[in-house]
Amino acid sequence: MKIPLASSGLRDKDIARLNQVLNSGNVTMGEQVRSFELSMAKYLGVDHFIMVNSGSSANLAIFEALLRPAKTDPMLRVGDEVLVPAIAWPTTIWPIIQLGLKPIFCDVDPNTYGLDLVLARNILSNTQHKIRAIFPIHPLGYALDSSEIHKLCLEFDLLEIYDTCEALGSFRNNVHAGTDGIAASFSFYFSHHLTTMEGGGIATNSSTLADDLRSIRSHGWSRDRADSSEWIYGNSNTDKKFTFVSTGFNLRPMEIQGAVGISQLEDLDSFIEKRRKIASTVKDAIEGTFLSLIEGDADDTANAKQHSRMLIAILDRRGKISKESVRAALEKKGIETRPPLTGNFLAQPAAKRVIDRSFNPKNFANAQYLTDNSFLIGCHHDYSEDQMRFLV
Ligand SMILES: Cc1ncc(COP(=O)(O)O)c(C=O)c1O
Repeated sequence: MKIPLASSGLRDKDIARLNQVLNSGNVTMGEQVRSFELSMAKYLGVDHFIMVNSGSSANLAIFEALLRPAKTDPMLRVGDEVLVPAIAWPTTIWPIIQLGLKPIFCDVDPNTYGLDLVLARNILSNTQHKIRAIFPIHPLGYALDSSEIHKLCLEFDLLEIYDTCEALGSFRNNVHAGTDGIAASFSFYFSHHLTTMEGGGIATNSSTLADDLRSIRSHGWSRDRADSSEWIYGNSNTDKKFTFVSTGFNLRPMEIQGAVGISQLEDLDSFIEKRRKIASTVKDAIEGTFLSLIEGDADDTANAKQHSRMLIAILDRRGKISKESVRAALEKKGIETRPPLTGNFLAQPAAKRVIDRSFNPKNFANAQYLTDNSFLIGCHHDYSEDQMRFLV
């Protein structure tokens, strides 16, 4: 038997919706995407959700919008610094560098893989830095405590932006992870809680930012903005469908992605419940051994909804050599494993080449500890009862 990290997640119902859209002849971004965006905004409790073609694109679009808004003053300027965790996904970090900003790395909390807020405060207090924004990840579906992050943002006058690509369905105090900042990115890649095959999006309560994201997603045009008529009257020498008001990319999703998203969102709660059940079954199975879950305070019943498991993180308390042999044994049995995100991101060859040498991976002890001593297995909601029994 195989226990893959993830499966396609597409059900007959999703494929039927997808076929309907293909047969309709409307294949590029339109009604399906708009309808999915409205449903996502409602689910997350935000004013706007802008769908794009991946979580990576969502991160890119957010930073572009903050640097080059169409109407307002930029919230970030080229050269500004952004505080990020040392365990990250590459496209959490690359857009920052690609757009001329500077990532400042902070070590992570060994109990969660998330940004360590005590260390973050130390870095922010260091007058050498001119950090203008904080970009934490809610790792593996675990909702960080954003009230603490808020405090830091108020004290150090920071923009609060979240990479929520791994945490759809994670709530803390009834607020969805990421939604209390200026913007939060999401991913609907096939292994995530909800799949649109490839796909992503941005949640925000700012109407101006939402409009800028709509332009940036589509070459910079005004067409999809709530304020599009304003631009047409103010620029009478341009065609109303071809008025370009900002910089842009083509990051648009397709209609089939919107349609699959609508179909999947209808069942998201049950997907998340199943994932939680798999994680708690695994937790019971390893109790009393040298293995334990890394899950922050997610097991606290008062906070039961704060962990929408993306994968299961396992710590081997006997250390790196033991961890490698446990991984090898699981793989031999057909149970797929992987490192946590990229592991210590600063140890990656590309990071060593592109990122300021002062960020020596050896100085990020917690990131290295987690890289050495922990690994992930899947908890995909498609697992059958047989697969769950086998995993245990
Ligand atoms: C934290 C984080 N950010 C960004 C992304 C990128 O999302 P995508 O694969 O949809 O581009 C991922 C992907 O898993 C992720 O884990």
